[in-house]
Parts: sequence; C-alpha cells; structure tokens
Amino acid sequence: MTTPAAPPRTSATGTPHTRREGRAKVTGEARYTGDIPFAELAHGWLVTSTVARGRIRSVDTDTVLAMPGVLAVLHPGNALRLTPGAGLMGPDANLQLLQDDRVPHVGWPVALVVAETQEQARAGADALVITYDEESYDTAFRADHPGLRPTAPSPLAMPDVDQGDPDAELAASAVVVDREYTTPEEFHNAMEPHAAMARWENGRLEVVDSNQGSYAVAQVLAALFSLDADTVRVRSEHVGGGFGSKGLRLPHTVLAVMATTILHRPVRVVLTRRQMFSLVGHRPATAQRVRLGADADGRLRVVEHETASPTSTVHEFAEQSTRHSRTLYAADAFRLRTRVVPLDVPTPGFMRAPGWAPGSFAVESAMDELAAEVGVDPIALRLRNEPETGPVSGLPFSSRNLVACLEEGARRFGWADRDPRPGVRRDGRWLLGTGVAASAHSAGVGASTAAITAEADGTYTVRVTAADIGTGARTALGQIAADALEVSPESVRIRIADSDFGLAWLAGGSMGTASWAWAINEAAVALRKKLADLPGDMADLPPEGVTAHADTTELLAAREQRESHGYGAQFAEVAVDPASGEVRVRRMLGIFAVGRVVNPLTARNQFIGGMTWGLSMALHEEGVRDDASGGLANGDLAGYHVAANADVPLIEADWIDEHDTYNPSGIKGLGEIGIVGGAAAVANAVWHATGVRHRHLPISLERVLSGGRR
Ligand code: MOS
Repeated sequence: MTTPAAPPRTSATGTPHTRREGRAKVTGEARYTGDIPFAELAHGWLVTSTVARGRIRSVDTDTVLAMPGVLAVLHPGNALRLTPGAGLMGPDANLQLLQDDRVPHVGWPVALVVAETQEQARAGADALVITYDEESYDTAFRADHPGLRPTAPSPLAMPDVDQGDPDAELAASAVVVDREYTTPEEFHNAMEPHAAMARWENGRLEVVDSNQGSYAVAQVLAALFSLDADTVRVRSEHVGGGFGSKGLRLPHTVLAVMATTILHRPVRVVLTRRQMFSLVGHRPATAQRVRLGADADGRLRVVEHETASPTSTVHEFAEQSTRHSRTLYAADAFRLRTRVVPLDVPTPGFMRAPGWAPGSFAVESAMDELAAEVGVDPIALRLRNEPETGPVSGLPFSSRNLVACLEEGARRFGWADRDPRPGVRRDGRWLLGTGVAASAHSAGVGASTAAITAEADGTYTVRVTAADIGTGARTALGQIAADALEVSPESVRIRIADSDFGLAWLAGGSMGTASWAWAINEAAVALRKKLADLPGDMADLPPEGVTAHADTTELLAAREQRESHGYGAQFAEVAVDPASGEVRVRRMLGIFAVGRVVNPLTARNQFIGGMTWGLSMALHEEGVRDDASGGLANGDLAGYHVAANADVPLIEADWIDEHDTYNPSGIKGLGEIGIVGGAAAVANAVWHATGVRHRHLPISLERVLSGGRR
C-alpha cells in the first residue's frame, strides 16, 4: 500500500524537542504513584528496626490493632511466605521481607502497619512496640578491615586482572605515584519518594509503581509471590528520578503486594525520605589504592587499582571502581582488585554511574598527581597514554574520541594559558585554580522488544516497556520512531512503562534509550515491510490497525565483542578561601563523545545534571555513619547536603559528533557519564588553587582547613 505522501526524510533526531509530557508535568495533570486516587485504597506505613543487629523478640500488635482505622499489622509472625531466589540481577535476599526475625541493620523493615488513611497508618507505626535481642555489631568500614575478601563471581563483578608483570614494570618505572583515596557513603535522593500501589483486579495483580523498569519489576514480583508472569502487570507512567535506586530494591512494592493479597483491597506504600536512606541501595564508601608507574615522560608502564567497599550481611554488592582503569589508559601491566567486607549496614546498590564515579575520582586524581610529578601538562599526559585497543580487553573500540574531547574542551575552556604552578593565583581572599579529568561510561545495550501499530487515521502507536525517569525518554523515543517511520514526531504516539508491553531493558546503566531505540528501529522496518505488502492506503487499515513486533535478543547475542564506551573531558575552575575553607566552583565545562545525540535539549539537561552531581560529590555529599547506633547520623535532607542552586555556577556541556553503529541506532547512552570525572576535575582544581591534594571526599571546610586530612 502507499503510506500518506511521505514527508521529506525527517530528521527529528539531533534537533531539540521539548518534553511530550512537559505540559502535564508543569500543570500538575501528570500524576505520580503517590498522587493517584484509587477506590477503597488502604495505606501501609513501614516500621524499620532501630537496632543494628539482633533478633526480633516480640511485636506488640494488640495496642496498634485497636487504634482508629488500623486494618492490619504485618510482621514476621504473620507475613506471607515468599519464594527465595528472586531478584533483579540474581537472587537478592533484600526482597525476602518479614520472613524471619533476624535484623541485619538499622532501618531494616520489621513490620507494615496498614490503615484506612496514611495518617492512621503512620500513627500505628509510631505506636508499635517491638522488642529486640540485640547483638554486637560492626558498621565501621576501613581500608584495612580484616574481613575484606574478594568478591563473589557474578555477571556484574569486574574480575580481578593480572596482566603483564606489574612488579617488574614498577621496578623499571622512573616515577611511581602510590596513593590512597576514599569516597564516603552517598545517597541517590530522587525527588519523588519510592511508592507503590498494589491491588488484585479480575484475577491479575496490578501494581502502579515508581520504578526504572516495569517489566523487570513484574518479573521479580511474579517470582517472589510464585505467580504466572502473565498474572502480574506493573505500570510506572511518571517517575520523579531514579539514579539507580528504583528497581533493584523494592521493599514498598513487595509489602504493598503482600498487604493487598491478605486484605483484599488496594494498598499503597510510600517510603519516607529517611527510609530512602536505608532501603533502596546507596553508593557504598570506597577505599581505593592507585599505583601508577611511569617513564620520566609520563608514559605508563603499570596501572594498579585496588578498590574496597562494604556490603551488608544480607546480599553482596561491591562498588566496581576498577571499571574506569580498565578502559582509560594504555599500560604494559595491570593489577586490578575488587574487595568487599560484609558489615551490619544496609545493602548498597547502583547509584549514579556505579563504579565509574568513585573509580574516576581515584584514577583521574592520580593522573593529575603523576602529571605534576613528571612535569607534563595533565592533558598532554592523557594524550600520551591513549590506547590503540581496549587496554585490558584487547578488543577494538567501537569508537573512541577521548582525545577529541580533551582537545575541544581545552580550546573552549582556555587551557592553553594555564600556569601549571599550584597555589599562585589570587582574587582577593580567594585562591584560584583549574583542573581537568577524563570521563567514560560503558555503552551497553540490553535485549528489548517493541511494537508499532499503524492506525487507520494515519498515526502510529509505539509500545515499549521503557521508563521515563525524568530524562525525556518518551520524547527521544518519539524522535527515533518518527525517523524510523519517516513521519513527523507529531504523528507518533509513545506508550511506555507497562509490563504488558513485554521485555525491555531498564532505564539504567545508561542503556535505556540505546536498547529501546534498537528495538523500535527493528519494529519500524518490519512494519513498513508489512504495510508495503498491503493494498490500499492507511485509511483502509482495519480498526485495530496493523502491528509489527521486534525483539533484539538474537541480534544482540550475534554481535561481535567490542570495547564500547562513551568518553568525555571535564574541566573545572574553583576558588578556595584558605581562611574559611570554603570552596566555590566558578565554572565547569564538559565535552562528551557519546555516539548519536537524539535530543540536544534533554541530553544537555542530563549532562548538566550529572556534572552537578560531580560537583556535589566533590564538595558536599557524605553519609555519616554513627558507630554508637549503627545508623546514619544525617539520613535526611537537613543533614545530607545535595548541591543546591547556590552551589552551582555556570555549567556548560557539549559534545562532539561521533558516528558509531555498533548499536545500529548509533546511540551510546549518556545518562550517567556527566558525573564521571567531575569530582576529580574539582579536586584537581583545588590542588591547583592551593597546592594541597585532597584524596578524601568530600572536600569539606574542615578538610580544607586541615590540609586534606582523612
Ligand atoms: Mo543507573 S545507577 O544504572 O540507574
């Protein structure tokens, strides 16, 4: 058939488009999970442990059950039994909620109070008396903890590397930089709290949730409650930020499902801000040792990087900080180690460029230290160590434009005029300095399905279980589909975030758009072929339209192995007041190479958001664990400072053209790379300003005043 007079080959991608749901969001018409009304809705309030380790001895439910509006108190004595082994990426015992009386950390869920109103549920939770048999605990992480051990093998674990002869290369090195760096516990702090509503409707479990991937959540719930996957439907229309915290750990979702199954009415559970500090994963503290051995001209002979982080006694999650050292620089030898120690703390998880962000702080700081030692400009040092192939993998790069990012960034930032001497520039009471760091993030793709329906009215409907966690995914997918169908974005409807649409990768790992776009492009090809074989024109299509499906699972499995990453260069200028210890970032510039940029408007938003996190990581963010209680001393937004507008100067982000069809969509993903290297660029600038090297984050007033002490 002939489709409507094809407009000239569109190029929706690469041009700025405002968000499809922008109007709905600014008018309040868009509803988040916690706002949606449901008939007969009951409210669950989580009760979490106040002790760091022990056993629940008793739960005094009688008093609470007599309170107004209280419907139930779920606790280990009466909870539904869950199927062991469920998890998003392998079995995760954090999902086994209320299954036994063991308390593994402060803030562990020990009961759920369900009531007619949220206020009544909260009052019941406040009144619930739980007694514990307390045990001694260990919540203090340190680099020389005797419990540190290698990580368990898993698809997510970066294997230890011994390549070449590190000892011989160290011995032959003219210069060795051997340093320890630490980063503290950090917390995602999405604006929208985690929330889930669950109900049984016509024999199906229906869940409305705030997550990064509804298909994955549906799979996890089906496994946990031993349900047919077809029985579970999860939707997540609007999500107010995720950053890795929405999908892996789902205490609110699991308990909402448990409560609705017991009570036979819809139940919603919303986490409090404080609960978000102990229940949804966080970035663990890291202690990293980096040893760089180089010739006198700065050419690297050896890269050693050992990272250690704490996990919980419930489940192992190790921060994979060596990711960065695997792809940035060539060397003759590598020794890379990941170590983990189980402590009586909440289980960490994926957060804002997991591994990459803390790893880049250590490695890019060490490169700056090496540059100073050998007297080579920090950019020249990086160019000198540019690899031909993956430094550890040996694989060809799908594309790599770090050099172009550094050179373009240097030009735009005004690097050429830089005086390399530290501590010599002043502006009144301020010492001034500039710093640079390299950035990278893996460009992964996950198997996804998509369906596109051609409608008789001449429009198209795309269905894909994508999640728009605030990134503009809906809008980008509209642009991609429009180009694939050779129509205007206005004639494309995008439906996302419904597990009934089928398998799709999460909005995670910077892989969302890249994964969904590939499937949409395949579906578009299939649909156009189908339409071409039909007689008549679109007005003659049946009422249900004509649909084509695609699944990238096999295409992905057939791909040759490549080293595929986005790269970037981060620049920062800081002012430091040595009297007060105050550090102000005056400007930041990031230049990235991330394949095809679909929507310059939302892409820039994401880069700038990531760079703001880099600034925040450098100067502000720090969870302080109180060894007297085992809990966080600052687990709220009064005590845990995330960079606010007043902290954030002019941040500029841009990118260079990069053509890479390792993913046929040309997309490498750009959700997380903005944070990578940001903290190191700031720390390197602080050194340039003051001559004092800060190896421990955050660079607080106290640390500046104490000369960078641990
Ligand atoms: Mo991202 S930390 O993979 O959601």
